[in-house]
Amino acid sequence: MATIVESKLSSAGLRLRWDDGVLSDYLWIWLRDHAVGADSMHPITFQRQLYTAGLAADLTAESVRADRGDLVIEWSVGDSSCVPLDLLVRCREPERSDGRAIDSRPRERRLWSAATLDDDQVRVDHREIMSSEAGLLAWLERVHRFGFAIATDTPSDPAATEALLRRVGYVRQTIFGGMWQFSDNLDKADTAYTTLGLRPHTDGTYSHDAPGLQLLQCLRFDGEGGESVMVDGFETARRLAAEHPQHFATLSTTMVPGQYIGDGSHLMARRPVFRHDDQGQLVQVSFNNADRAPFILPATEMAAFYGALRAFETLVNDPAMQWCRRLQTGEAMLFDNWRLLHGRRAYTGQREMAGGYVNREDYESRLRRLLSPTG
Ligand code: OGA
Ligand code: ZN
Repeated sequence: MATIVESKLSSAGLRLRWDDGVLSDYLWIWLRDHAVGADSMHPITFQRQLYTAGLAADLTAESVRADRGDLVIEWSVGDSSCVPLDLLVRCREPERSDGRAIDSRPRERRLWSAATLDDDQVRVDHREIMSSEAGLLAWLERVHRFGFAIATDTPSDPAATEALLRRVGYVRQTIFGGMWQFSDNLDKADTAYTTLGLRPHTDGTYSHDAPGLQLLQCLRFDGEGGESVMVDGFETARRLAAEHPQHFATLSTTMVPGQYIGDGSHLMARRPVFRHDDQGQLVQVSFNNADRAPFILPATEMAAFYGALRAFETLVNDPAMQWCRRLQTGEAMLFDNWRLLHGRRAYTGQREMAGGYVNREDYESRLRRLLSPTG
């Protein structure tokens, strides 16, 4: 951890120089707002107790000193407060203070295409996941790195599918229920419940908060075809941005509506195929051509959208971008529905699948706790 080598107080705030030369500026009001004493933050719930709007706008301090892991600040008005030094370290650089700096992130994502993904990298034994936090972390870290990972030797029992998903988070309720099972019985108004092929897509384009993760397990298969197809949407975004920047821009800005009509529901939501956060980072890929709702733009923009859609769909349907393999009985695939597109080839015979969704924030929460159990 970086250590403080110099501190300078001014009327505006505190400037710290760290041992690696970094200079950090903290406003006095920010330091008071992030104090951890009982009058500032609840010691059990970690919720702010402070009425921030009630702080004096011209709050200043007399002195600061480091003491047992805290920075102790003596305020000009006579009281004092403590701010943890590790928080100051995590917030050393303002451009990362959007929440990333105070987040425990696993290793970087590794974008892939057919040629660069090694099948062995995305497999973890079901027993390890169920029996240890290390096994669960191994599974989720792979999901983070590659966008998907398969639990092997999972018992062919829907109760096992549910228990596996509950290791990650609570099961999301949707129009399909919580955990679902499907075969070609048209139980729901969705092509998933047929033997037809499904081109690569993301689920929940009709939902404002599309499922973060999806688990799909093969319970039984006796027939031909039915291979699962996975595509790294972030890699397709990278390629489009490099090779066809105008298409990338179109898919990053055009609001595309999705819809689900059936089973007594009519769901609708809109977002671009490539959704970015306020820092310009790609955070979500959303695409389901089957569920796209009617929309119309001025002719030149509409033409640009169809041009971009053609480039994108051609890319995601290119075998060079696809991991394509039939899930075997006992294989349960967990994937990031905000990054990967998934599909399946048409099939004949009997195919029974089970699965469910977990919300994005619950998956992120589980990863954070696994990486930093006390944090
Ligand atoms: C789905 C889906 C894939 C499969 O249900 O959304 O994409 O393997 N299913 O059946
Ligand atoms: Zn799907």
